Amino acid sequence: MDKIVVEGGVPLKGRVAVSGAKNAALPVMAAALLAEGDHVIRNVPDLADVRTMGRLLTHMGCEVGRGVAGDPRAAAVRVPGSVRPEAPYDHVRTMRASVVVLGPLLARCGQARVSLPGGCAIGARPIDQHLKGLAALGAEIRLEHGYVEARAPRGRLRGATFVFDGQTVTGTENVMMAAVLAEGRTVLGNCAREPEVVDLANALLAMGARVAGAGTTEIRIDGVERVRPLDWAVIPDRIEAGTLLVAGALPGNDVAVEGCVPAHLEALVEKLRETGAAVDPIPGGLRVRGDGRPRPADVRTAPFPGFPTDMQAQMMVLLALASGSSRVTETVFENRYMHVLELQRLGADISVDGKVALVRGVPALSGAPVMASDLRASAALILAGLAATGVTEVRRVYHLDRGYERLEQKLAPLGARIRRVAQ
Ligand code: EPZ
Repeated sequence: MDKIVVEGGVPLKGRVAVSGAKNAALPVMAAALLAEGDHVIRNVPDLADVRTMGRLLTHMGCEVGRGVAGDPRAAAVRVPGSVRPEAPYDHVRTMRASVVVLGPLLARCGQARVSLPGGCAIGARPIDQHLKGLAALGAEIRLEHGYVEARAPRGRLRGATFVFDGQTVTGTENVMMAAVLAEGRTVLGNCAREPEVVDLANALLAMGARVAGAGTTEIRIDGVERVRPLDWAVIPDRIEAGTLLVAGALPGNDVAVEGCVPAHLEALVEKLRETGAAVDPIPGGLRVRGDGRPRPADVRTAPFPGFPTDMQAQMMVLLALASGSSRVTETVFENRYMHVLELQRLGADISVDGKVALVRGVPALSGAPVMASDLRASAALILAGLAATGVTEVRRVYHLDRGYERLEQKLAPLGARIRRVAQ
């Protein structure tokens, strides 16, 4: 189990490129199940979660390869005429996002057996909305032995109107994909508007699906008989970009993040500017400079276009060094403050009361051994280590590798004294 060792207090300067988005690549890979044939998905990050999705598709009878026609960032997915409509517990328990195969399997095969994802460090994360949406399209759903057993009674789902109780990213993606091959029109209300949902909708359109309204709270899908294989490049990872922007906003740093989409990062950029960081557009990206001690800022997470919950932990690091107190309110997940105890180990002054964390800024952090609890918490601990004096050791970085493509190798060229130590 690797750890990452960071020697802090070194200013970061330079340019860094963003990889493709994990949270776009996963549902787009699942969408391939909708059509028999050879699919190409480009700009796919080399991450543990992407490999997990690859293994899951392989379990269903697909052939998954990396590197197509000389494009090392492309994944090839060959989908057979008959797919094994099953996602076993051993795959789903390592990555709850595996649940996004449920909609495409049901649409394509008329049946699916998908393990329930189970608990998660950041919250209960039920999938009731996914199941309610699929049931609205006519699916018969039973929960048995830890599995969702779903089937379309007449072998095909039928279009319907469904309104999500709460905005859910993968829920919207799952039901949208199921509706692609349904009979008639589906109208989904209170949909998630995340850029990854829009990217999936655009990929479905490229397959010949009829989807409209993605990016708004209402998505309309007119079912078609079949769709064709895909050749699609996924969007850049706005959360990786955001993490690198926070690194650049730390005192004394100057970082240009290349290949990101500024429109995907507006809520974060607004908060970075509020802390006093200079954030400027550059061709193909954003440049950020941390001029002096950050100012405090209150942050409230919310579904897109609100402040992303996946940036809450990283932003807390910047606020931990601010010249005053900030209130952070986590509204999306009920247990997403696991990083606070570890940041306290580095000298941060943070207290949590339910959804609200009060971050009283301190002049400096000091390095220490810390433990990652989840993907974004691990990124925050790396950022804190960069800002802290002395050495920070971040353990359990397998969490980090699920969603960041060798982050230490992206930070080192900026001047970071950071290395991975195999244990
Ligand atoms: C997606 O998860 C992302 N994962 C998460 O990123 C991200 O944190 C989250 O959206 C919110 O932006 C992927 O896209 C693979 P939700 P998802 O359903 O779809 C509740 C990362 O770090 N809810 O939008 O699982 C749920 O419990 C990961 O990359 C229900 O109650 O999140 C949560 O409180 C972490 N019932 C809220 O809605 C449901 O059926 C939003 O969850 C579904 C969700």
